[in-house]
Amino acid sequence: MPDGQHEYETDESFRHDVVEALTSDHRRISSKHLYDARGASLFEEICELPEYYPTRTEVGILRAYLPEIAKVLGVGVRVLEYGSGASVKTRLLLDHLESPLVYHPMDISRQQLAETALKLGRDYPELDVEPLHGDFNAQVEISSAARGDAPLVAFFPGSTLGNLDPDDANNLLRRTRSLVGDRGGFLLGLDLVKEVSVMEEAYADSAGVTAAFNLNLLDRMVAELGAVLDRGAFRFESSWSDVQSAIESRIVATRSTVIELDGRTHPFAAGDFIHTENSRKFDLDRFLADATTLGFPRSKVWTDDAGWFAVILLQTS
Ligand code: AVJ
Repeated sequence: MPDGQHEYETDESFRHDVVEALTSDHRRISSKHLYDARGASLFEEICELPEYYPTRTEVGILRAYLPEIAKVLGVGVRVLEYGSGASVKTRLLLDHLESPLVYHPMDISRQQLAETALKLGRDYPELDVEPLHGDFNAQVEISSAARGDAPLVAFFPGSTLGNLDPDDANNLLRRTRSLVGDRGGFLLGLDLVKEVSVMEEAYADSAGVTAAFNLNLLDRMVAELGAVLDRGAFRFESSWSDVQSAIESRIVATRSTVIELDGRTHPFAAGDFIHTENSRKFDLDRFLADATTLGFPRSKVWTDDAGWFAVILLQTS
């Protein structure tokens, strides 16, 4: 592993976060733990669901405007992607960029990161693929050897910024600003506020894939932490919150039950829940104003006709 690279210990951090959630008054587990191998594959299924409009809307924008976006980004850039997953959208980007030099996929799922890096390296022989295993909520460090001179573009599609608490999202923007320096940029996809029913249905699909994606956390607790629980006593629930401007997801106990972990018993009354994810939806003007104060004074924006989703290039000067 290159110098300065952040090592992410999946098991220990998962155990730590679960124990903390179960013992607290407001039970909450970071949505990053949804992405074990099974979770990552369920998420790919979600992206294909008829109700889940964000992926196809964003891909539509990218297909339509990437020739233009690539021109703005310029020749010979380095790309750092936060939460690269299967790197589907990356391929679209790389196919349009002129002679990109380096691609740093960054992901929490070690297995998916390795597979993706291997495949991309094979399909883009001219490109230097340098995976960074870790959590984009932590400081990202790229070794000076890998840095070189080429401008760095951070890529963060999928509206995943919306899974971060507002403070963490602002910190990510600040850190990205200092990482990309004066010549780089931040290309990101954001899901915008729209009719509530459209947003709610995207997280309540009739096939139950989103439910399985969230309830998989219970299976992880059993398989990886040795927890004892009655999976049938929990269901998935999601709803729009005006206050958070987000779809909130949770695992809810349907009757009184317990989760046993490391010799401790954590009781749930019917209706008690573990919060698993916030999917924040953005007001474009407000976001751009915030970005300005965080070091990105200029931007270019591309949207779909309905204005459901935005692809934004934040620029530093
Ligand atoms: C792509 C990670 C932003 O919040 O919409 C999809 C994850 N969760 N369905 C989102 C997700 C439930 C997704 N992100």
